[in-house]
Amino acid sequence: MNTQQLIDTARALVCGRKGLLAMDESNPTCNKRFAALGIPQTVEVRRAYRELIATTPGLGESISGAILYDETIRQKTSNGLSFVAVLQQAGIIPGIKVDMGAKDLAGFRGEKVTEGLDGLAARVQEYAGMGARFAKWRAVIAIGDGIPTEGCIDANAHALARYAAICQEAGLVPIVEPEVLMDGAHDLQRCFEVTERVLHAVFNQLHCQRVMLEGMILKPNMVLPGKDCPHQSDATQIADATIRCLRRTIPAAVPGIAFLSGGQSAELASARLNAMNIPSVAKEPWALTFSFARAIQQPALEIWSGNDANVKAAQQALLHRANCNRAARHGEYNAAMERT
Ligand code: 13P
Repeated sequence: MNTQQLIDTARALVCGRKGLLAMDESNPTCNKRFAALGIPQTVEVRRAYRELIATTPGLGESISGAILYDETIRQKTSNGLSFVAVLQQAGIIPGIKVDMGAKDLAGFRGEKVTEGLDGLAARVQEYAGMGARFAKWRAVIAIGDGIPTEGCIDANAHALARYAAICQEAGLVPIVEPEVLMDGAHDLQRCFEVTERVLHAVFNQLHCQRVMLEGMILKPNMVLPGKDCPHQSDATQIADATIRCLRRTIPAAVPGIAFLSGGQSAELASARLNAMNIPSVAKEPWALTFSFARAIQQPALEIWSGNDANVKAAQQALLHRANCNRAARHGEYNAAMERT
């Protein structure tokens, strides 16, 4: 294991004002988002959409790393360049999603466990050979009546830690993503309690599996009230709760925390990240940044809608979101930016 290389990559992913762009939707997820906008769901259209994203001029000023999906890392742009090469030329570090999705957890109704450990060592070696320098694995934890259970939390935490150890051995920085879902009517406090339990379990397992904390990134949810909760907290309350929860659970050795957006609107995700990074507030040991998919891509996807004539406008919308989140890393985002 090349310890220094892992540390350098992890630091580069969270350096300065940059953050990560998740463009690693599995084919079923990507197709679902295309279908909602009437976009054809074919290999070629998915390729064209990923080309639009990766070739956005200026993206590398706000984006440190981009997470690809297996189909995309094997594809080329219309100029014949691999996506890995296009990202590298833009100064963006290529990464890869390596989990095989969340599946029903046997014996635990309503809960999931993420699969993909079998054969993972060989797969990450192949991806490293293709130029990937980091990887991602997402676990999902639902909040509901009597859930999450310890059984579900432990199974997912164990898989995340095994994945992280396998990645580090192959020289890839693991992005460890335990996502507590926003679905439900639970309040902020319930999300806090569940997120705290989950993060404790994850770091316990990371320790057991000898994962080097300096060479990984955590990708958690923000601590939020459920989507259907009648009382929606403001950005400051969410930032306070999130930071309190992270301080209790995340060792200072972890260089960076890159939030998922999880179904928040693009503007709210930026405003909440911003509230965590206001200079008078921010004196945390880790960089607090973004690793959004929907909160960066969705406005651009809607503008593009599968039409070549809209590529430039869609790229502008993508760049705008990336720039808003870059500003949010230093508490410099405000609603006026949305009107420019
Ligand atoms: P969202 O930002 O859309 O939640 O996606 C992040 C991600 O990578 C999910 O695994």
